[in-house]
Amino acid sequence: MAERPYIVGNWKMNGTRAMLSEARAIDRAAQRYMKAEVAVAPPYTLIHAVHREAEQIGVGAQDVFPGEDGAHTGDISASMIADAGAKFVILGHSERRADHKETNKLINAKIDSALDAGLRIILCCGETLKVREAGEAEEFVLKQLKASLPQIDDAAERLTVAYEPVWAIGTGKTATPKDIEAMHKAIRQLLDETYGEETSAEVRILYGGSVKPDNAREILSIPEVGGALVGGASLSAESFLGIVVAASETEDA
Ligand code: PGA
Repeated sequence: MAERPYIVGNWKMNGTRAMLSEARAIDRAAQRYMKAEVAVAPPYTLIHAVHREAEQIGVGAQDVFPGEDGAHTGDISASMIADAGAKFVILGHSERRADHKETNKLINAKIDSALDAGLRIILCCGETLKVREAGEAEEFVLKQLKASLPQIDDAAERLTVAYEPVWAIGTGKTATPKDIEAMHKAIRQLLDETYGEETSAEVRILYGGSVKPDNAREILSIPEVGGALVGGASLSAESFLGIVVAASETEDA
């Protein structure tokens, strides 16, 4: 991997100001584990507060409205989240694709807005159980990515891909190391074809879906796994830091 393993906490729709103490604890501990790059994506309401706490960790958002500031009641633009202190945004998460019927076209527009605002992107992809059981997981994920990978010249530098099998999110199930490796290699090949090998090498491919302190070491040592996108286990500093420690001790991550 070109860069340090990237461990990102996705807090989803969790967290009030009471969670700031967890963010502070994650940040202070991350300063001792510099072999890993650590970030959290709190809900919009906490981005600025977490940003103010953060000396070491990156802070990002979980979504963005595509387009300029203006008459869009209830929406939040990329420039607003950047102003609040976000440096990246998670896009195309399966919960948004399912709950808000997000299409690849909409996700593309969000990517453009985020890049225009100078943000980095974590682009999520992943198959449902039905698709995996039909033996079509790889084809499905590559199609999803082909439809959304930004084609702008310098975009790859600001891109991270997260492979998250939908059936592994929040369920306690994880894909087998063999399946994770095969999917990450297929994604790498697509990135090589899209950006050229040199640029592709800069793009980390994270695994997500029930990553916990007790399975992190195994997952993070799989070839082509460049880090983890962590939901449930990122909500407490103790469990999230268990994953950060595993990442900082994993040689090949
Ligand atoms: P989980 O969520 O770790 O709770 O499975 C991962 C994600 O959705 O990013």
